[in-house]
Amino acid sequence: MAELCVNIDHVATVRQARRTWEPDPAWAAVEAQLGGAAGITFHLREDRRHMQDDDLGRLKDVVTVRLNMEMAATEEMVEIAVGLQPQMAMLVPEGRQEITTEGGLDVIARQAELKPLLARLGDAGIPVSAFIDACPAQIQAAAECGFGVCELHTGPYAEAFHEHARNIGHPLVSAELEKIRDCTRTVLDLGMSCNAGHGLNYANVTAIASIPGLSELHIGHSIVSRSIFVGIREATRDMLRCMATPPSS
Ligand code: PXP
Repeated sequence: MAELCVNIDHVATVRQARRTWEPDPAWAAVEAQLGGAAGITFHLREDRRHMQDDDLGRLKDVVTVRLNMEMAATEEMVEIAVGLQPQMAMLVPEGRQEITTEGGLDVIARQAELKPLLARLGDAGIPVSAFIDACPAQIQAAAECGFGVCELHTGPYAEAFHEHARNIGHPLVSAELEKIRDCTRTVLDLGMSCNAGHGLNYANVTAIASIPGLSELHIGHSIVSRSIFVGIREATRDMLRCMATPPSS
């Protein structure tokens, strides 16, 4: 089964609403670990809308599982990653006006710009993941560019699932699921590891978690949302239980 990496950005979103010191995303990371997370993911955005630079050292101190840094493909972020030494750098597109990451990285269009950044991260011994749409041409470009990992964007699947009354059998939902399944195989055939994430929640995760070959699911919003009621540790455990449920039950 794929492992769970919990994205703790939205704990910092709540803190930044008051620009205070609580709730602390590093504390959330510890609670997610105690709930069984195999990794902690954070996104240091260029506009610093949630995670702040001084969160990074505290996270590094307390995270004993894998620490993944999601980031824009910029020189500034690469330098921060090289200094921090996370277990993985996850390159994503960033738009100022977006509420969350909207689409996958256009690796085809940005190959020339991405290659030196990948080389710098590679020299520092940091594996790099490309967050991409479930599109074979983008996967091919990611392999050519030198990425070792692809994270497939599950947002379109998640939207279809909820638009069609959570009916996994609906043709538009199963079409999105099949795209993720097929693209997982393509990623693995090209010698990369395959992760998935975005928009996954307690209702829609089971079908994705059962796809053979996926290494990690990166999930944030739904876990942090549930944690308001039950705490991060229990919300993480609940997600792991959903991931382990066979899709037919
Ligand atoms: N993967 C990537 C690349 C993301 O940008 C995000 C959102 O920060 C996630 C996974 C997690 O998405 P969600 O918060 O919808 O679970």
